[in-house]
Amino acid sequence: MSGQPGRNVVFFGATKGMGRSLARLMAARGDRLFLLGRDPEDLERSARDLEVRAGAESGSMGHAAADLMKPEGFSAALDAAGEALGSIHVVVITAGVFAAQDDLEADPDRVKWMLDINFTHTILFCEEARKRLLASGGGSLVVFSSVAGDRGRKPVAIYGASKAGLSFYLESLDHKFRDQGLITLDVKPGFVKTGMTAGLKPPPFAGEPEAVARQVMKAIDKKKPLLYTPFPWGWIMWVIRTLPRFVMRRLGF
Ligand SMILES: NC(=O)c1ccc[n+]([C@@H]2O[C@H](COP(=O)([O-])OP(=O)(O)OC[C@H]3O[C@@H](n4cnc5c(N)ncnc54)[C@H](OP(=O)(O)O)[C@@H]3O)[C@@H](O)[C@H]2O)c1
Repeated sequence: MSGQPGRNVVFFGATKGMGRSLARLMAARGDRLFLLGRDPEDLERSARDLEVRAGAESGSMGHAAADLMKPEGFSAALDAAGEALGSIHVVVITAGVFAAQDDLEADPDRVKWMLDINFTHTILFCEEARKRLLASGGGSLVVFSSVAGDRGRKPVAIYGASKAGLSFYLESLDHKFRDQGLITLDVKPGFVKTGMTAGLKPPPFAGEPEAVARQVMKAIDKKKPLLYTPFPWGWIMWVIRTLPRFVMRRLGF
């Protein structure tokens, strides 16, 4: 079921950026979504927008409060989603944060905030989702990590570490539970033009969220475990992964 249209999807992060593009694509092709996020008004607006795109009845796409800074609320949020959807086929997590390396180096509290959101609490949320998906016979867990986790790089030492740890976990999850029906997809975007990257100088090959959404949708359907997106970020990272350390030390990117 997780690889076909008409799925029941819990979506954490559909209010902005790549999450919004992917949620719109899913709704337009007939998936039923339940949104999790921080801002009730934003969630309400997003849910109504998705219903219109799906041609669905008003009120058919529900939402519940969930904040990646508050892991104590994860279980209740997923329970609310389960009750509204009946069964859950796919859980998508696009929610995450970025901060510049210089700002992080100047503020240990901010480092903790980033590691909590992108690493510790995202994994705690995945663990709650994993248990529920496995208990109902399986499904897809789709999580946005980043190419920043592929290689130690000067401008993203801490953000990259948070995503490297997350990707390590996602790969292990796929190895461990695929036989039991849990398909874990680790999405690694390159630079994509969203609110998160507004104000940063776009590098060559900066992508658009809609292109990412289309590729993620295909990867879910094909039950892939890993996706670099958009093109050609898979090739770019292949090159970067092969560079020797002395070259990486000299480079500023
Ligand atoms: N853009 C890129 O170039 C890029 C590259 C590689 C990886 N990524 C990763 O891809 C994912 C999506 O990025 P994006 O560019 O689409 O980001 P975005 O436009 O900034 O959207 C981020 C989403 O995360 C949610 N969020 C932030 N903090 C949260 C919290 N404490 N609790 C719950 N939700 C929270 C936001 O919700 P609110 O509406 O409440 O703010 C928003 O929906 C992120 O994990 C990011 O790290 C992005």
